[in-house]
Amino acid sequence: MDIRVRLIKSAFYKEKETREGLAAFVRDASLFSMDRECRKFEEDFAKKQGRRFAVFVTSGSAANLVLIQALLNLDRLRRGDKVGFSSLTWSTNVMPLIQLGLVPVPLDSNLSTLNVSPRDLEEKIGDLQGLFLTNTLGFCDDIGKIKSMCEAKGVVFLEDNCESLGSKAGGRLLGNFGEASTFSFFVGHHMSTIEGGMICTDDDELHNMLLMTRIHGWDRNLPGTEQDRLRRENGVDDFYAKYTFYDLAFNARPTEINGFLGNAQLGYLDEIVFRREGNYKLFNYVARKNDDFFPLDFSHMELVSNFAYPVICKSRTLAEKYRKKCQENGVETRPIIAGDISKQPFYRKYAGGTRVSGNAELVHENGFYFGNNPELTEDELRILCGILEK
Ligand SMILES: Cc1ncc(COP(=O)(O)O)c(C=O)c1O
Repeated sequence: MDIRVRLIKSAFYKEKETREGLAAFVRDASLFSMDRECRKFEEDFAKKQGRRFAVFVTSGSAANLVLIQALLNLDRLRRGDKVGFSSLTWSTNVMPLIQLGLVPVPLDSNLSTLNVSPRDLEEKIGDLQGLFLTNTLGFCDDIGKIKSMCEAKGVVFLEDNCESLGSKAGGRLLGNFGEASTFSFFVGHHMSTIEGGMICTDDDELHNMLLMTRIHGWDRNLPGTEQDRLRRENGVDDFYAKYTFYDLAFNARPTEINGFLGNAQLGYLDEIVFRREGNYKLFNYVARKNDDFFPLDFSHMELVSNFAYPVICKSRTLAEKYRKKCQENGVETRPIIAGDISKQPFYRKYAGGTRVSGNAELVHENGFYFGNNPELTEDELRILCGILEK
């Protein structure tokens, strides 16, 4: 059977208009390296998200790497510190922890929310200096309580919000609970800049360090007063100022093409989230009637901005049955994110022995997801609902 419903339907929302706008931009732009388009996207994204600062980078993975390095540069995290993470996550949520000398501590997830719950955190928090929580597939657990637990214990709390742009709980957008949060704009995520990511924070000092850590460790993108301070303290004269590197960094600088796309797609974000939420509710309405699946609980959330619908079957045999049904109906599927990340070869190689086997493993064995695209047709919605019927 040919694929009828793909995981990723198109490169952009409103593909035709966006491609036409992009072609005109490429034809007319005088500059392609990071400039006005990127700055505007950062300002507007920060406003939309309701945070003071947004730093645009080349991907969600780069956002995670730059953020952890910036916290190490500021001595808020130290090599050897233990950092909790969600077992249901993406490789490059955990990899920066390992690469930068931190000790990853896996946390299990609540089966009905697919996210770390206060109970999952409770038994480990005494050991942790940091928590890099993933808000999985548009959902969260009791993230307000998790924030309070981290504050009470002095644990640095970060959100990997690469899968949950637009979701809301406790009157707040996800991505606004942690000291900083990261976002991905890879094709197929909520909005696409082809490749791209963002780091948000309300913290001045962290923002300045992120600006240096994103590009070479130099001061060129800092506010003037901060440049003056650094140059004075380090005895740097004007001739060398542009070529002085103050701290450990990467080059994770986006291009104006990514910035242009960010500005174009951000205008559609409310519409994208609204449509995806509508699809999600429809899928959930059908799925809840099927007792072959574990039900999802999102009653504590005001808005679920979901970009892929997860199905967790009550047995492995049932999972095989429904995956086959998808195949026979031309519906493309994949594991839920990447399954239990602590089962992955890289994790065994570098952090072996620190696995949790619980719900994450069950989701790994019995789960799959299909895409929730904002431009699904009636026909495609009907096929997907048919999959969820018993
Ligand atoms: C939770 C999570 N973190 C990080 C990333 C990495 O984002 P990117 O593909 O933009 O590098 C992803 C990608 O899907 C993700 O799901």
